[in-house]
Parts: sequence; structure tokens; C-alpha cells
Amino acid sequence: EKSGYEHYMLKEIFEQPEAIRNAIRGRLDHDRGTAILSGLNLTARELVDLHRLLIVGCGTSMNAGLVGEYAVEDFAGMLAEVEQAAEFRYRNPIVNSRDIVLAISQSGETADTLAAVREAKDKGALVAGLVNVVGSTIARETGRGIYLHAGPEISVASTKAFTCQVSVLLMVALKLARSRRFSREEGMKMAREIEQVPELVEQVLGQNDAIAKVAESFVNYRSMFYIGRGYMYPVALEGALKIKEISYIHAEGYNAAELKHGPIALLDEEMPVVALLNDGPGKDKTMGNVAESKARSAPVLGVITTGDEEARAACDWVIEIPASPQYTATITATVALQLFSYHVARLKGCEIDQPRNLAKSVTVE
Ligand code: F6R
Repeated sequence: EKSGYEHYMLKEIFEQPEAIRNAIRGRLDHDRGTAILSGLNLTARELVDLHRLLIVGCGTSMNAGLVGEYAVEDFAGMLAEVEQAAEFRYRNPIVNSRDIVLAISQSGETADTLAAVREAKDKGALVAGLVNVVGSTIARETGRGIYLHAGPEISVASTKAFTCQVSVLLMVALKLARSRRFSREEGMKMAREIEQVPELVEQVLGQNDAIAKVAESFVNYRSMFYIGRGYMYPVALEGALKIKEISYIHAEGYNAAELKHGPIALLDEEMPVVALLNDGPGKDKTMGNVAESKARSAPVLGVITTGDEEARAACDWVIEIPASPQYTATITATVALQLFSYHVARLKGCEIDQPRNLAKSVTVE
């Protein structure tokens, strides 16, 4: 069943190039420079009239949603927001028929996300699902949506679901962008960049041994910070979530700008910082945060673009990811951090596929 892998998690990490290929197959229209997402079942008129995209989910699915929020605002210039599903459900949210609520759930059974779906429907919003498990409750109740096609995810820690969710959300952003301000050429360029993702992920998987080596230095730390800006902020959140759930090392994901507004007080030689330093807007500022961290003796692991000697020199350890626009680097950088978490947990002798206190699908509120 594990096809020779020691754990389902590792198997699923390595399945990602294929899983993402399946998630994007048939959905990119390169000639017209757009995405085909027929399950959304929106007419051209409805698409143009949409006022806002509201994304709801929990845990890893919520983190993927944050990448979606950034991409939709960035490319389509349309209002987008992500919200933790239970918070959305219980704070009397303002939604109406020109809003589309997109519920993201790997299992399609998460109670909080399902409750948010019902609330949004009651309030008259359009509701769609981004779900992996076919025929699951959220898929059925939303009635419209996009299946992930990631294949079964057995490890409790979500990996390929996240990268497939982000891939689909980027296609949602592309489609919305083409219904608004994107030219055909811009759409074609974005479609090509999304198409390249599986190959870029393969390059990251090729770093597995190097990442395992870096992980050796982390088994004795008790707490860590993950920092990133812009598109790399959701990656910091997801990186921190993954390390805490499988290796039981306390970790916090922060946007790098917030570091100096409090958490910097915690930095010392016992508190490593994982900094997302790959090329793109915000990198130089995050380099500044790395210098501040080093000045407080915090060891730094950088996720850097291959060949970036300046970033390498600023860090104690690095993991390299291939050059790509930041919005697709959300996927490659996350894969690098999945491998990092996996190896730290393995070296610590943790259960990995069945972390304590966690269930694969959380069907109670
Ligand atoms: C983290 C993890 C959880 C789930 C969350 C939502 O690795 O697995 O945070 O992402 O419970 O689950 P779904 O996506 O099934 O709704």
C-alpha cells in the first residue's frame, strides 16, 4: 500500500507532481489563456457580476485559501477573503447573492466547514465546494464546485491536498482575472506558469536528501518561528502547522513584518527562524528580518532560490527551490517544508501518519 515508502506521508509528498497534474488536467485552456472550471456552473454574466469571493476552511485547507485570497485580489482585482469556517459561521457574517462562498475541504466532512456552507446558503450566497473526496457531504450540499482529483490522502498531515488546492485556486484566480482585467496574453502566460508547477515540484523532491540532512540539526529544538511576506506568508503558516502536528515542536507562523511587534522578544539561540527568502517582492525586507534574528543569536534556516548566494550567506542552513514567480513558489516552498517536517519527525521517532490527538477528518464542531 505504501509502495515501498516508510510512511504514507512521504508517499503522498512524492505523489505531488502526479496529483497536481491530475488537478490541472483539462482545466487550462492555453489558446484562450483561461481556465475551464465547468463545475462552478457560472454563466459569463454571473461571473462578471460577482462582487466578492469568500473562502472558508480549516487548518491546511484554510492556509491554501489564503493563497487563493491573495491570488484573486492580485490577478483578478476582485475582493477576496479567507475565513476560518467556524469563525465565519458564528459571527453573523454579511453575505449576499453577489458573493460566492468557496468551501475548501479535503475530506468534505469537516463539521465547521459544513456548518459554514449551510449558513452561507441560508443567507442566499452562491456556494461552491473545493473538495477531494467525491460524494462527500460538503460536495453534495454545495452542489457546485471543483473536485481536486488529488487521489486518496491517508496520512493525517495533509500534503498533496494543499498543493492541489493551491493549484486549483490559482486557476480560479486566472478565470476570474480573464472575466475582468486580464488580456488573453496575460492569461496565456499565467496558464503556462501553472502548467510548469509539477516539474518544479519534481525539482524540489530531488532535494530530499539535502533536506533530510538539514533536518538533523533540528531534532532538539523545542520551538521555532516561520516567517514570510506576501505570498510567502501562507507558506509560513502551513510550514509551522506541519512541523507542530507531526514533530510536536512548537512553531508559530508569522508574517515577517509582525516579528518586531512582539515575537522578536522570544528570539535567542534556542529559537530557530525559518525564513522564506526566495526571489520576489518582499525578499529584501525579509532579509532584514533575518539580520535582526541573527543579531539576537537565533539560528536561521532559509528557503532560497537556487543559486542565490546572497541569501545563502545570510543563513545557517538553506533549502533551495527552483526560480519561479512567487505565486507558484507557494507550492514549491511548501513541498520543501513538508519534507523538512517529515524528516524532523522521522528523526525524532514520531508516529508521523497518526500524530497524537489528531483525526483525519474532524466531524465534530
Ligand atoms: C493538517 C490537517 C488539518 C486539516 C483540517 C481540514 O495537516 O490535516 O488541519 O487540513 O482539519 O480538513 P479538511 O480539508 O478535510 O476539511
